[in-house]
Amino acid sequence: MAPSPASNPAYGALTNEGKSTNIVWHHSTVTRAARAHQRGHRSAILWFTGLSGSGKSTLANAVNSALFEQGLACYVLDGDNIRHGLCKDLGFSDADREENIRRIGEVAKLFLDAGVVVLTAFVSPFKADRDRVRALVPEGDFIEIHCAADLSVCEGRDTKGLYAKARSGEIKEFTGISSPYEEPETPELRVETGAQSLEACVAEVLAQLEARQVVPQSS
Ligand code: ADX
Repeated sequence: MAPSPASNPAYGALTNEGKSTNIVWHHSTVTRAARAHQRGHRSAILWFTGLSGSGKSTLANAVNSALFEQGLACYVLDGDNIRHGLCKDLGFSDADREENIRRIGEVAKLFLDAGVVVLTAFVSPFKADRDRVRALVPEGDFIEIHCAADLSVCEGRDTKGLYAKARSGEIKEFTGISSPYEEPETPELRVETGAQSLEACVAEVLAQLEARQVVPQSS
C-alpha cells in the first residue's frame, strides 16, 4: 500500500490517525489551482469566532452576500445550522465542541480545495481547536476573524433568549457564563461587532480580503 503523502502544497496536511486502514489518497485531476484559474479568484477559509450573540452569523452572511454579488463562489457554514445535521449528535461539552470544530475544519478544507471562499460562523471557543484547523491548510488560507463583542453586549442582545436560560441554570456549559471563551491572541482581523454597524464590519472584512488578494482590488 502506498503511503498517503504527508502534505500537499495545494491542500495542506494529509493525516490519517483514525480507524480506517488500507486507504490510499486519490489525487483529483482537477486541481485547486485550475479551479482558481477558471473562477478568477482564490479560495480561503474565513473563520468567524466569538461569543453567542456577537454577530458572527450576521456578519458572515452579509460578507457572503457581498462576495456573491461580486461573482465569487462562496458559502457559509453556520454553527446552529450544522448542528441540525452533520453535528446533530454533538452537545456542548468541551469534547463535543472539539469534535464539532474538527469536523467543520475538515469540511472547510474540502471547500477550500473546491475553490470556494468558505465562511464559518462557530463560537469555536478553544484556541487549540481553532489552531488545529489553521494547521490543516496552507499558510495564508485560514483567516481568523474575531467578532469582538463584550459579554454584556451579547447578553443584553440575547437574541435567542439563551443567556437568560444560562443564567437561570436551565442551559449548562454556556459559553461566557458557565463555559470559557478563549479570545484569539493574534487573529488576522478583529472586528468590533459589539460597537460598530454591520456595514462598517462588512467593509473591514472586505478590505482584509482585498489586501490578501482573495477578492479583486476595488478601483
Ligand atoms: S461551538 O462551541 O461548538 O463552536 P457552535 O457555534 O457550534 O458552538 O454552536 C453555538 C450555538 O449553539 C450558539 O450560537 C447558540 O445558539 C447555541 N447554543 C446552545 N447551547 C449552547 C451552549 N451551551 N453554549 C454555546 N452555545 C450554545
